[in-house]
Amino acid sequence: DGVSDGSGFLSNVAPDYVFGFDLDGVFIRGGDVIPEAKEALRILNGENEEGIRVPYIFLTNGGGKTEAERCLDLSRQLDVAVSPDQFICGHTPMSEMATQYHTVLVVGGEGEKCRHVAESYGFKDVVTPGDLIKWKPSVCPFRKLTDEEYKNSKERDFTNVNIEAIFVFADSRDWASDAQIILELLMSKNGRMGTVSETHTEGPPIFFAHNDVVWSTAYDLTRYGMGALRIMIEALYKASTGKTIDVTTYGKPSKATFDYATRVLQQWRKDLFNDPAPPRTVYFVGDTPESDIRGSNEYDEHSESDWYSILVETGVYRSGTEPRYKPKKTVKDVLEAVKFGMERER
Ligand code: G3P
Ligand code: MG
Repeated sequence: DGVSDGSGFLSNVAPDYVFGFDLDGVFIRGGDVIPEAKEALRILNGENEEGIRVPYIFLTNGGGKTEAERCLDLSRQLDVAVSPDQFICGHTPMSEMATQYHTVLVVGGEGEKCRHVAESYGFKDVVTPGDLIKWKPSVCPFRKLTDEEYKNSKERDFTNVNIEAIFVFADSRDWASDAQIILELLMSKNGRMGTVSETHTEGPPIFFAHNDVVWSTAYDLTRYGMGALRIMIEALYKASTGKTIDVTTYGKPSKATFDYATRVLQQWRKDLFNDPAPPRTVYFVGDTPESDIRGSNEYDEHSESDWYSILVETGVYRSGTEPRYKPKKTVKDVLEAVKFGMERER
């Protein structure tokens, strides 16, 4: 009959609801696991009255590592196996552009990690800001590569190289030199360093993995993130050219990212239960009204599933304030969110 008999047997009945989780500010804050997080996952993994297993995926705007590497970290931190098949980060959907652009600049993250991410997506020729600074240190007058950065950056003559697109994969570790290089390319002729387009119409396109202006870290107040860099790039481009630059942002709240998440959720549910049907309800739990709640609410209009947004108080959103985008439910933390959703389904 498929129901837990207390001997550890789990029901193999597929519930028709699933959970989608944001990571920073919901499970992780400042690198540490939020205390209630592990129990929330244990409940979904079968430690519940009905003995059912409720599928879930992680949809984070963060990034900077390959999906496989990030899932290994998460599995260790959360004490459950997290598969790359249930994990999407800001840059994951950008993999679909690997066939479109050959030589690309990849910005952000630690060391060489984002180069590796881009290569894992199949990008053929990945350039980093470090490569450009190694070529001509005067590109960024105040930046000195560390010995390790110098060693890892590629020796290359960029005189005749056209950079076809710019991808900001993760938070910049050095806004000054990254912004300098990004702006030079945006204003260049066909993405060639050292050139200036007179019409300002010949630069490469720029893609950001997400658009979070602030995010939740170990510090009491929120900190500026990739969306803030985007604002800075737009402002400097405008000040330099008098024109507006078109940027593309992925991640929540973009529809493209929720479309991608829908495919992942449906496949994950199929992997677990061999059930190809889309879930009736997706409980989406996040801490940032502008990306998680807005994204989930707007996607609800497009989706055949009900996207039910739940806002937690462990991250960007502060209890007692008025969120810019209203969730369907507000709870203290992710454990309460899971209990609420499961109770609503009983
Ligand atoms: O840099 C990551 C941050 O902006 C948000 O991550 O997990 O809250 O979507 P997350
Ligand atoms: Mg978050």
